[in-house]
Amino acid sequence: MKTLRLELDPWNPDPSVLENAAEVIRRGGLVAFPTETVYGLGANALAPEAVRKIYAAKGRPPDNPLILHLSRPEQAEELVYVDERARRLMSAFWPGPLTLVLKARDCIPSVTRGGLDTAALRMPDHPIAGALIEAAGCPIAAPSANVSGRPSPTDARTVWEDLQGRVDILLDGGPVRVGIESTVVDVSTERPLLLRPGGMSREVLEEFLGVPLGVPDGQSKRRSPGMRYRHYAPAVPVRIWQPGDPLDLGEGQNPEEWAFMGLSEPPAGFGHILQFTSAENYARGLFTGFRTLEAAWRGIVAEWPSEAGVGLGLRDRIRRAALEGK
Ligand code: TXA
Ligand code: MG
Repeated sequence: MKTLRLELDPWNPDPSVLENAAEVIRRGGLVAFPTETVYGLGANALAPEAVRKIYAAKGRPPDNPLILHLSRPEQAEELVYVDERARRLMSAFWPGPLTLVLKARDCIPSVTRGGLDTAALRMPDHPIAGALIEAAGCPIAAPSANVSGRPSPTDARTVWEDLQGRVDILLDGGPVRVGIESTVVDVSTERPLLLRPGGMSREVLEEFLGVPLGVPDGQSKRRSPGMRYRHYAPAVPVRIWQPGDPLDLGEGQNPEEWAFMGLSEPPAGFGHILQFTSAENYARGLFTGFRTLEAAWRGIVAEWPSEAGVGLGLRDRIRRAALEGK
């Protein structure tokens, strides 16, 4: 298939381009589009054949369910069972980088929810995403628009690298704002669970809910299938460095052949340094940094950030990028 790459101004998106893309979604095709977190690879969430194309294009394991993207909170009511707590979360934090897992209604095909009885919903805070969903007239299922296991795409060039020839349309709306994926919270049971830390801070959610978020134990991990996989990994090794600790690159490695990413002064004479001025900027630059640095350096040292705010999500991405093997 030939991928059509179309540029769109996020603040003034051309309605005819959006209509073109919405028509592709309605016909059961694939459209990659920007959200505030990362680019998504979208299809009609209610059409099983269209959703199967997402799994094929990404090489994604079929038991890893997708997020349904909405353009208005009310759309959730037809798709899942929404209680008062979920409704309050939606009105406080949507649109935004918060994904809510709720008990699914029968209208959501099993393939979209990876065979689970729950479904994940989010309303992205991006004018192109919102307008596309609204024009398509259906919820859009979308994982991050990368080949499975690779760092998620924070700009259109990266999507193009991974998915050129595998999607019908790529909407290029420029670089994203947040840079790591949404925070996923399971509110389908009494105790809310943090399934994936991300762009929305844990402290803010806990303050709002008035209770600490649970974290999945061995058993409930089955309900967060995405967390089982090595992820976000560049093609070269990633080592974690905590400020104050000695640097350990492994036997015979020379820091001059390695790159450093982080917030602090690097602990050695690295060949290349990406130093960020805030945790938010670190999050915004993490995945692009991985992809840029892997091409030129033997390995990447990533600083372990504090867990405040977006730091918890950053830690999760860095930890999983540093895992050995698949
Ligand atoms: O920011 C984001 O969330 C991006 C943009 C495109 O919206 N999307 C994204 O999708 O990161 P994906 O597919 O890469 O990650 C979705 C996560 C996975 O960890 C998946 O296991 C989890 O959400 N998930 C989806 N449905 C679920 C469900 N019913 N129960 C538990 N976890 C679920
Ligand atoms: Mg992903």
